[in-house]
Amino acid sequence: MKAESTPGTDQPAWLSDDRRCVWHPYTQMLTAPAPVPVERAEGVYLYTPDGRRVLDGISSWWVNIHGHNHPRLNRALKDQSERLAQVIFAGFTHEPASRLAAELVERTPSNLTRVFFSDDGSTAVEAALKMACQYWQNQGETGRDLFVALEHSYHGDTFGAMAVGGIGVFHSRFSRFLFQVRHASLPPGSLPSGERTRLTGPPPLEEILEREGERVAAVIVEPLVQAAGGMLIWPAGFLRRIRELTRERRIPLIADEVFTGFGRTGCMFACQHAGVEPDIICLSKALTGGYLPLAATLASEEIYQAFLSHDHSRTFFHGHSYTGNALACAVARENLSLFDENGSLGRVRELQQLFEERLDRLKEAPAVVEVRGIGALAVVELKPEGKGGYLDQRGTAVARTLFERGILLRPLGNVLYFLPPYVITDEEAHRVFDVLEEVLQEA
Ligand SMILES: Cc1ncc(COP(=O)(O)O)c(C=O)c1O
Repeated sequence: MKAESTPGTDQPAWLSDDRRCVWHPYTQMLTAPAPVPVERAEGVYLYTPDGRRVLDGISSWWVNIHGHNHPRLNRALKDQSERLAQVIFAGFTHEPASRLAAELVERTPSNLTRVFFSDDGSTAVEAALKMACQYWQNQGETGRDLFVALEHSYHGDTFGAMAVGGIGVFHSRFSRFLFQVRHASLPPGSLPSGERTRLTGPPPLEEILEREGERVAAVIVEPLVQAAGGMLIWPAGFLRRIRELTRERRIPLIADEVFTGFGRTGCMFACQHAGVEPDIICLSKALTGGYLPLAATLASEEIYQAFLSHDHSRTFFHGHSYTGNALACAVARENLSLFDENGSLGRVRELQQLFEERLDRLKEAPAVVEVRGIGALAVVELKPEGKGGYLDQRGTAVARTLFERGILLRPLGNVLYFLPPYVITDEEAHRVFDVLEEVLQEA
């Protein structure tokens, strides 16, 4: 059914309610262009009420993998809604959450045995940080008051997640409200290109642990790809080194795979590129294939065991109203089945090859500083207008032109990236690169 239109336009009438009442995320409401209404979506395309078809080149903020409006995911949602949508998850349980937990334990590194559900990437990280703190406290170690994260990291927008984040424009205004974190340096080759020859930077992890290791509750990293920090890609060897250093000191390692999880980098989880077993892993985003908010924080048996006690104060007192939501868990299970049946990992590896070939052609374009990629992620770092970084407008200008040509890419400052649902065809992916080439030649 077509929505009622505002007289004299082809825009739906409800858009005036958006203008009057909605505060959008990551949007300067005074100056941002009006949001694009989306009426429906199918496969890799979004459809607007005025008849435009736009290729979703960012998987709807990194969540969609099998395409929009997938009949199997729709069916799983409908079937579950006719049985049970939601029930309190403390003291109660249900099949979708229990089965999903078992499937996640099966798929993640083998030391991870317990699944704690929450709602989104940020809450998955909050749960992980709190688990790590209390893991020590429950064993009588109360001096562990420090976390270590990497520079340019992003772990979400809630306060704990912001504390371990390292993106000035998002986090620094809140810094005096955040708990103590030391940020460790990235390998120089993985820094934004403008910083590679810097003379000073944060210390390496070795140095921080040498100095303050006894105070560290956990080290948290985004394995291999620091996404919101500018799609910075680092080598698997660096993750192995982080694991060695944390293991030597018995410090839990938290792998935030909210972005990298479920195949994006060419392995089911990015840790697997390095053969690394983290003590805690955070999952969300593609867990439901882009359908519903759901997250899972998986812990090792050692972490879990530290919470078992006849002393009730050692309980993990954490939870959210929708923890283990039955609809989301049912869709997540179907999403995982599709992943296997579609051979999604194989598809990501094919896409990686196509992306590499096409990125290679782009790297000589005058507007481009560097290209990089991994799995189904292609990154083009553009010559910045100013110093680069998230507030740089270069990417926005290019993305606007791409959008006019039917392609949605949302930049991170001067970093443009292409991160489509895995079901994109070769032809569609080539078209994105063709248009990108055209636009970058003009830029
Ligand atoms: C690595 C990582 N962790 C956590 C988050 C936060 O997830 P959410 O936006 O679902 O809260 C994000 C979001 O982009 C992320 O990329």
